[in-house]
Amino acid sequence: MGKRLQIFLGSLLFLFWVSGTGRAFAVETLSICRPCSRDFIPVAERVIEEMGLTAEISVKATSCLGACATPAVIEFRDTIYGDMDEARLRTMLEAAFP
Ligand code: FES
Repeated sequence: MGKRLQIFLGSLLFLFWVSGTGRAFAVETLSICRPCSRDFIPVAERVIEEMGLTAEISVKATSCLGACATPAVIEFRDTIYGDMDEARLRTMLEAAFP
């Protein structure tokens, strides 16, 4: 089999896999305000791991999200959440990924 044909078939297989799973490019971001909520970053990472959502969500530390009076502050799916804690995060993620 020629090298070009192998590359073509490999690419085709990859595209088929991506479209079939819908996961390869579906990672969402959970942004956490670093200035006021840095202590919540490892909590969120642990919750995501315990819920088996590491393929779906990545955690990113950000600058101020504008809700400084209510830490922990996160942004998920274009919504800002204040007063976030582990229990609220679990509830939110269970609703987002039923
Ligand atoms: S410093 Fe965290 S929301 Fe402003």
